Amino acid sequence: MADNYLEKRMEQYRSNSATASSPKSKDGLAVLLTRNRSTRGYDASYLVRIDQLRRIVGVNNKLASARNRQVLRFRPVTADEAHKVLPFIRMGAGLKELHLPIQGTEPNAFIVVCSTIEPRNSTFVDLGISAQSMLLQAVEMGLNGLCIMDFDGSSLVEALQLPYKPLLVVAIGKSAETVRLVDIKENDDHSYYRKDGVHYVPKVVVEDLMIK
Ligand SMILES: Cc1cc2nc3c(=O)[nH]c(=O)nc-3n(C[C@H](O)[C@H](O)[C@H](O)COP(=O)(O)O)c2cc1C
Repeated sequence: MADNYLEKRMEQYRSNSATASSPKSKDGLAVLLTRNRSTRGYDASYLVRIDQLRRIVGVNNKLASARNRQVLRFRPVTADEAHKVLPFIRMGAGLKELHLPIQGTEPNAFIVVCSTIEPRNSTFVDLGISAQSMLLQAVEMGLNGLCIMDFDGSSLVEALQLPYKPLLVVAIGKSAETVRLVDIKENDDHSYYRKDGVHYVPKVVVEDLMIK
């Protein structure tokens, strides 16, 4: 890149890794990734604005895309239309007894991601890259989100008058939850759980993610 960004980052990275406890590695991507937890309870007094949703969708013209086709399209939904989405999404299937979202903590903003073509494998790879990038942008803005694939697609098409098939709904809002990651081994239980008001998400330790 013309501004030598990558060279500068590489120099920083080298000087950080030369020191035992690389303090700079504590900010940046690792923090965004850790804060980017699936959120199913939101602060109802915080209404996400359309310009915030536009900024989040805005990451999509900087992303990799299979054959650079860029077939994804995005429908922002703010509080005035949230009632058109909420009845058709399902959250927290792993904690059915809680009937999430808890009343009064429903998300009030969404980005409905659609495809202009009948989705193929590469469309879903594009979708994953897009969803994670949008969520990281949201976290950088002090917001959180949730990928929702458990939704009633034809009802959403009708309610929002969508010209394309929806593949994913991303909820966006100000989190009202405390979420923590927990290290597990690959054969341990992967189910997320709640205890004393904290939502715990088990994650397989890196050592067990490596193919030996
Ligand atoms: C493709 C995809 C679809 C998902 N669909 C739903 C969903 O329909 N409802 C829901 O509550 N969570 C959904 N989730 C959130 C996952 O349950 C969540 O990522 C998982 O519990 C791990 O938590 P974490 O995102 O905080 O790491 C989905 C996540 C992904 C990546």
